[in-house]
Amino acid sequence: MGRIRITGGIPLDGEVRIQGSKNAALPIMAAALLNRGTTVLKGCPRIADVFRMEKILQGLGAKTCWQEDTLVICARELQSCAADKDLGEKMRSSIVLLGSLLGRWGEGVLPFPGGCVIGARPIDLHLDALRTLGAEFREEEGCLYARARELRGGEIIFPRSSVGATQNAVLGAVCARGTTVIRGCSREPEVSWLCRFLNQAGGQIRGIGTSCLEIRGVSGLCDTVFHVPADRIAAGTYVCASAITRGKGILLDPPVGEMRALLKAYEKIGGQYRYKSGKLFLCSQRASGSLGWLETGIYPGFPTDLQSIFLAVLTCARGESRIKENIFEDRFKAVPELQKMGARIALDGRVARIRGGSLRGALVSARELRGGAALVVAGLGAEGETCVENREFIERGYEDISRDLNALGARTQKD
Ligand code: EPZ
Repeated sequence: MGRIRITGGIPLDGEVRIQGSKNAALPIMAAALLNRGTTVLKGCPRIADVFRMEKILQGLGAKTCWQEDTLVICARELQSCAADKDLGEKMRSSIVLLGSLLGRWGEGVLPFPGGCVIGARPIDLHLDALRTLGAEFREEEGCLYARARELRGGEIIFPRSSVGATQNAVLGAVCARGTTVIRGCSREPEVSWLCRFLNQAGGQIRGIGTSCLEIRGVSGLCDTVFHVPADRIAAGTYVCASAITRGKGILLDPPVGEMRALLKAYEKIGGQYRYKSGKLFLCSQRASGSLGWLETGIYPGFPTDLQSIFLAVLTCARGESRIKENIFEDRFKAVPELQKMGARIALDGRVARIRGGSLRGALVSARELRGGAALVVAGLGAEGETCVENREFIERGYEDISRDLNALGARTQKD
């Protein structure tokens, strides 16, 4: 497995353009199956999970090609409704293929999804939502077999928020017969971006950005050219990189409207920023304060995907902070590795108590995507050199974290 070496203690002071959003691009790629034509995704992130999803689409019979950061998907002729088992079980987002395969074919075969080991990650909400639209499921040899003679509109009520289940419900409803009302929807930007894509491709979705979506089924989607939005988690990662080095930095075209909770926490520890003409100017010279209490939550709360990365920043703060993880039950995987660097963190269930101090470079291992990014950020703030193993976990969601951090003035290298 690959490594990233980081030389710590260099205050960042450069600029970086933010890549396309992983968690917006993946469901939109699945949605492209609902168009018996060509879908063009501009600004699509060139990351491992997108390449895996692309291979799954190819396995179903879609034709794909890249023109720089534009991904072209032609789903005119599909030969199969069975997603590749090896690829599908390596990533969580393969599960949203359920809704689009049912919408396209009336049936689908998927492996049970994999992805980051941050909790049980059941799919009950996905299946219940699609059953409401008429789908039936059975499990055989680790695969999920789905079928629906016809998807019919209905009322879906989610008992709790789920990004992926909301996306699956939308994908099942957009071409169903009749109208669907979905209550208790996730309001994450990645749900809204999927809905905007679908409407641009001919869908009839109202209530975007709210917890209640009304979807009038259409016969199919049409060709469209869509710009994938910037990745709010990658952007937040680089705000944290600036903070831990007490440097500065300029982010180009970050989705600042989707980063309010992160920026509020950044200001609370002493960070300063201003946003002008698509540029986010960061000034972190005073970003050394502690935070008292922070908890993750559904949007627009503090994003769970930035929890471990912000936790890394707090290990170098002055004073004590506590973070509560409310979304996933096992999302402190980076803590033992941060402790190898001298971090003073005590875990009590879903709460991490962090006593700020200093970090020293060490050899540490990434165990999942965002925890791996947290170790890289910690390396920026540590004394000496840090080596993060299992770089492949990080490459699932970041095009090239080393390239981006070096553009901000860091000294990192991949080997
Ligand atoms: C999406 O995962 C993202 N992944 C995650 O990002 C992100 O952390 C998460 O949303 C929350 O924002 C993608 O978009 C590919 P959920 P998802 O369904 O859809 C429980 C990253 O690092 N749940 O909103 O799987 C679940 O266990 C990744 O980019 C059920 O109980 O998240 C969790 O506790 C990590 N039953 C909570 O809901 C279900 O059927 C939220 O999960 C589904 C979920």
